Amino acid sequence: MKKLCLLGLAIGLISQTVLAAAPPLQDKQAFIEHLIGQMSVEEKIGQLRLISISPEMPRETIREEIAAGRIGGTFNSITRDENRPMQDAAQRSRLKIPMFFAYDVIHGHRTIFPISLGLAATWDMDAIAKVGRISAIEAAADSIDMTFAPMVDIARDPRWGRTSEGFGEDTYLTSRISDVMVRSLQGGDPAKADSIMAIVKHFALYGAVEGGRDYNTVDMSPVKMYNDYLPPYRSGLDAGAGGVMVALNSINGVPATSNTWLMNDLLRKEWGFKGVTISDHGAIKELIRHGVARDGRGAAKLAIKAGIDMSMNDSLYGKELPGLLASGEVSQAEVDQAVREVLGAKYDMGLFKDPYLRIGKAEDDPQDVYAPERLHREAARDVARRSLVLLENRNQVLPLKKAGTIALVGPLADAPVDIMGSWEAAGRPQHSVTVREGMRRALGDQARLVYAKGSNVIDDQVIVDYLNFFNSEALRIVKDPRPPAVLIDEAVKAAEAADVVVAVVGESRGMSHESSSRTTLEIPANQRALIKALKATGKPLVLVLMNGRPLSLAWEREQADAILETWFSGTEGGNAIADVLFGDYNPSGKLAITFPRSVGQIPLYYNHLSIGRPYTPGKPGNYTSQYFEEPNGPLYPFGHGLSYTRFELSGLKLSTPELKRGETLQAEVNVKNTGQRDGETVVQLYVQDVSASMSRPIKELKRFQKIMLKAGEARTLTLALGEDDLKFYNAQLQQVAEPGEFNVQVGLDSQTVQEQRFELR
Ligand code: BGC
Repeated sequence: MKKLCLLGLAIGLISQTVLAAAPPLQDKQAFIEHLIGQMSVEEKIGQLRLISISPEMPRETIREEIAAGRIGGTFNSITRDENRPMQDAAQRSRLKIPMFFAYDVIHGHRTIFPISLGLAATWDMDAIAKVGRISAIEAAADSIDMTFAPMVDIARDPRWGRTSEGFGEDTYLTSRISDVMVRSLQGGDPAKADSIMAIVKHFALYGAVEGGRDYNTVDMSPVKMYNDYLPPYRSGLDAGAGGVMVALNSINGVPATSNTWLMNDLLRKEWGFKGVTISDHGAIKELIRHGVARDGRGAAKLAIKAGIDMSMNDSLYGKELPGLLASGEVSQAEVDQAVREVLGAKYDMGLFKDPYLRIGKAEDDPQDVYAPERLHREAARDVARRSLVLLENRNQVLPLKKAGTIALVGPLADAPVDIMGSWEAAGRPQHSVTVREGMRRALGDQARLVYAKGSNVIDDQVIVDYLNFFNSEALRIVKDPRPPAVLIDEAVKAAEAADVVVAVVGESRGMSHESSSRTTLEIPANQRALIKALKATGKPLVLVLMNGRPLSLAWEREQADAILETWFSGTEGGNAIADVLFGDYNPSGKLAITFPRSVGQIPLYYNHLSIGRPYTPGKPGNYTSQYFEEPNGPLYPFGHGLSYTRFELSGLKLSTPELKRGETLQAEVNVKNTGQRDGETVVQLYVQDVSASMSRPIKELKRFQKIMLKAGEARTLTLALGEDDLKFYNAQLQQVAEPGEFNVQVGLDSQTVQEQRFELR
């Protein structure tokens, strides 16, 4: 016993000596190097393991592992009282290296905002910054240090379910949002108590998976990568994002997770990225199924050599790295580099200074983490209404009058789970305001609201089971057991007794999610049968769409008098939708992605390259690039969105016909609100490089501005362009602005534009 005490004293003295020798915390590099110098191989490998908290692994075991220095961080554990014991365990470990706690805070934490595709439709950087900031504040208050967001994968194939999680098809818009999201999540410094670290994902090109099939391969020319797909990641990293999550797909045959070109040559060397890299869930093991590793050992070796620092949901780094190090197949320096980056991220999150920075003291824990006062409802309503896009409005059927009888029908009219969208994070359906509830509140007793479900989202039980696969009991799709004809009958009766019909239709949230690729973009057949029956009543019909991807709506457009695209609009979605339906808010959203007429047109995006035999709208001709059996072009173009007022653009003028390098050119345009109501619109400026060393897009978004104009008000807008805006990566991957002619197009969508030309010398 005495011996043990003496031994303890000696160890204590040694560690004090070590501590005394430790460089000051302010010196990040020296501090981390010193720490690495003290770590055992096991402790180093432990730091590379990011563990998913799930019922499969008992918490006690996790705490033991943490105390032994064998886990670096966790995700999916999201309250202070859950995370505190884990941090306590880390503080009991030999070197007391703090844990970090991560979570997928994608479009809100407790307050759920519109899905990312909806956020993009706001074209409103202040609104998006508000979402990022509130998400961080709420998540940090629940002890979260890091989020796997923003997801900035360009998506041009809406069959891909994760289209809902990104910001659409456009490189410039997505890059702007990537920047804003990273800055607002990190709040200027990820070490602040109310900031969380942003991990940009999925690096790279995940949105271009073949056929829109999730997890599939990506084959892409370097020029397309550099010009179209890579800039949004770069933008998030330039904004200071702490890390990247590596994509699940392969790129030109090499999985991202083992891709040394992607992770080393591009990310580290060319871009100079210094942060942490995290694999996607179980992705290292998947290298075996990708067919590039024979076994787990080979997979771990490939990943660490490619520069994957942390292994998410790790089984392989923990198991295989000791042997790989012992055999010399993986060098100590390679492991140390990964450890350095993980410790660097922890340092940047402020955790060495205070491991309890976001956990706080037990006595300050919220009594009820689900307390409604913890939500930011006002902001959620404001952002949600900005995200709604008015696609059609014939005979000004909208806004609705708060009078008479309104029939509200459709499987998504009263759907508190669906309205939250794909990543509900810590949101709860009991907090959601559904469309039914929002309309009821807006109407009070001024009008009668009659509700009937009308149909299920989808009748096919096999699909329902598929969509419910990952859902907990509380989030399951529950089908109304009544036969479809009975449901429709009830809805038709409600419609017949009403002055106007509002039908809330579209997709269940799980249909636009990870692992939810579709072969069709149609609204399910049973809902279409409902729409048909409603149309037959002859009553004015308003379709309120809920969906996470562009749908093909050619038929619906014929049936409906008005169509309002609402995505999955979050906790306050129902109030926001009611605000727009009744005209308490004038819609201002614009599509961030093209809506095709039919799935056969995919990929269909506005900024495609010039070709030799282009399809010319209005002039169909043989031997031009077109489909012959249906009208060509999109149903709704990128940038489209109506308002309850009208805006006119006129008098586009350029400050000079000749732009000199290093100087700027001003594009001036008059915008007038010619309608009866105040409203906001988005002025969009596109540029076309008319003739270059290689074919260039027919137009590319380069500037936009959202402006509010009072009824009758006119304003002159000035948008500046410089040489940098004209640059692109040429066939040698040099970023150049080539001399020659450029068209400037300004419009309120990408299709109807005014044009002027200038020359770059
Ligand atoms: C997804 C990631 C996500 C991760 C952790 C994966 O399946 O691809 O986007 O961050 O799970 O939840």
